[in-house]
Amino acid sequence: MADGRMAGKVAIVTGAASGIGRATALLLASEGARVVCVDLERGPADDVVDAIAAAGGTAIAVAADVTVEADMERMAQAALDAYGQIDVLHANAGIPGVGQAHEETPAGWARLIDVNLTGVWLSSRAVLPAMLARGQGALVLTASVGGIKGVRALAGYSAAKAGVLGLMRSMAVDYAAQGIRVNAICPGTAWTPLVEATYELGGGTGVGPDGAKVSMEEARERSTARYPIGRLGTVEEIAQAVLHLAGDGSSWTTGTALVVDGGFSL
Ligand SMILES: NC(=O)c1ccc[n+]([C@@H]2O[C@H](COP(=O)([O-])OP(=O)(O)OC[C@H]3O[C@@H](n4cnc5c(N)ncnc54)[C@H](O)[C@@H]3O)[C@@H](O)[C@H]2O)c1
Repeated sequence: MADGRMAGKVAIVTGAASGIGRATALLLASEGARVVCVDLERGPADDVVDAIAAAGGTAIAVAADVTVEADMERMAQAALDAYGQIDVLHANAGIPGVGQAHEETPAGWARLIDVNLTGVWLSSRAVLPAMLARGQGALVLTASVGGIKGVRALAGYSAAKAGVLGLMRSMAVDYAAQGIRVNAICPGTAWTPLVEATYELGGGTGVGPDGAKVSMEEARERSTARYPIGRLGTVEEIAQAVLHLAGDGSSWTTGTALVVDGGFSL
């Protein structure tokens, strides 16, 4: 690990207890990064830290909510206290949301924007001073194909994800000369609790043409059929894209939305 692609780097991953965040935390650690695993509750974040340690890596857990400014300041400080620097933020925490525009409620809409967009901004805002002070850093924001393409019944979710891409481009321009690269990933479907919740809420292909709900198994088959590559993705495949954008292998890449979707958006 000392000679891995992330050797010497410190990476914060939000939403690290599950899915894409967990896979990214494990991969970055396996490539030598010291990882700060951030999630809402300490127990699940500790589980990831234990898995990283069992594989010979180094990590700490921080229980924090990306929508709470003070939590994000505490997250950044915990990284600095433990490891003295912050090289990478994978701003990844997110929640599902389903509904066409006329079905969204103000409260549901506000929550989607709060977690999936404001949370990305607040976590970025918290780490930027330390990155600016050192003149280096990489932000990798988790958007979605929903942020670049019309996906049925994901109005609020897609609006938030498109907002993430706008924020990404704005930060990429603002901080490029100061050594900070900002990029995003736009994943297609990798089966996670978030995706299951989306289908349980009746979104994506979880509703038939007649509006009736289909079984989870059928939803998964229908979803798979929409992927030119012939299968859904894995969280490990998405983590590889984050690794690329977080590491020095992408040293001349900033302001990019890297689509990782098995051809779905084609
Ligand atoms: N899985 C997919 O197919 C897919 C596709 C496109 C985009 N995404 C995006 O990828 C990201 C991760 O999704 P996933 O599928 O791994 O989901 P997941 O549900 O497996 O993991 C999300 C994690 O974020 C945490 N989280 C939620 N709200 C939080 C908050 N306020 N503060 C801190 N942590 C919080 C959850 O506790 C959970 O551990 C999300 O932003 C999601 O929108 C996922």
